[in-house]
Amino acid sequence: MRFGIIGAGPIGSSISRKLFMNGHDVKIADARGIERLEEKKLTGTPVTVIEVIKNIDVLIISIPFHALPSIRNVIDEVGEEVVVVDTSNYYPQMSGKIEEVENGMIESIWVSNQLNRSIIKAFNNLLAYTLEHEGTPEGNSGRIAIAIAGNDLQQKQKIMNIANELGFDTVDSGSLNDSWRQQPGTPAYCTELTKEELTDALKKANKEKAPLLRDKAIEILSAPEGRYSHEDIVNLNRELYNS
Ligand SMILES: NC(=O)c1ccc[n+]([C@@H]2O[C@H](COP(=O)([O-])OP(=O)(O)OC[C@H]3O[C@@H](n4cnc5c(N)ncnc54)[C@H](OP(=O)(O)O)[C@@H]3O)[C@@H](O)[C@H]2O)c1
Repeated sequence: MRFGIIGAGPIGSSISRKLFMNGHDVKIADARGIERLEEKKLTGTPVTVIEVIKNIDVLIISIPFHALPSIRNVIDEVGEEVVVVDTSNYYPQMSGKIEEVENGMIESIWVSNQLNRSIIKAFNNLLAYTLEHEGTPEGNSGRIAIAIAGNDLQQKQKIMNIANELGFDTVDSGSLNDSWRQQPGTPAYCTELTKEELTDALKKANKEKAPLLRDKAIEILSAPEGRYSHEDIVNLNRELYNS
């Protein structure tokens, strides 16, 4: 398949590498200009945002949440047949507070409104390390699963197949309206669960508590004395987001 990726951070570049290794045609762009890709070690073809949206089947957007409105004009030019995937998460500590989201608008609905386009929310509930270093062939016991939400079932199935190819089981987490169940602060968020565990975790999510637990996690992780390994972060998430 033909993929375009906007955003070459840890998530975008890991997806790019894995897709490329699986024989897909992958182009990758930076929303702020191709020059920003120069120093980066990337797999896939570095292109401009104008080029990245041409002749593709799937566009994966992996830039900070608050920066999404800046690519609205690019998304306006994306063909209707292209599946648009968003990997973002809202952290007010990083983006500043966004009033509509603070007032309860579901993150992916906000994204969808900003881009004037329905999206598939995927790859947001895995840590960058997990995406880069984990992933096993289908059928392996203990295989990590990711949650995929979206309103279009065919598009969602396409992205579930791709995630499976990249080494992860998948759980259909419902429509964009349900996607809060995989946001930061929920038991499904970056806790490295199997398909059965993730299905259960999505059901346990608490909408009111999630932002408070998300903020608590950031407070703990950004404390000056804190040094956390990947395993520590997963354990912290498991404990805190189930409290
Ligand atoms: N990191 C994780 O563990 C993780 C897990 C799940 C989901 N996510 C989400 O996935 C998305 C990508 O995260 P990431 O950690 O891979 O990388 P990131 O630090 O969010 O950066 C991703 C890309 O966006 C660019 N960028 C940064 N600020 C921008 C701005 N103001 N306008 C336009 N582009 C900008 C970066 O360019 P430069 O490199 O040149 O700054 C980079 O190419 C985010 O929305 C994040 O919330 C992250």
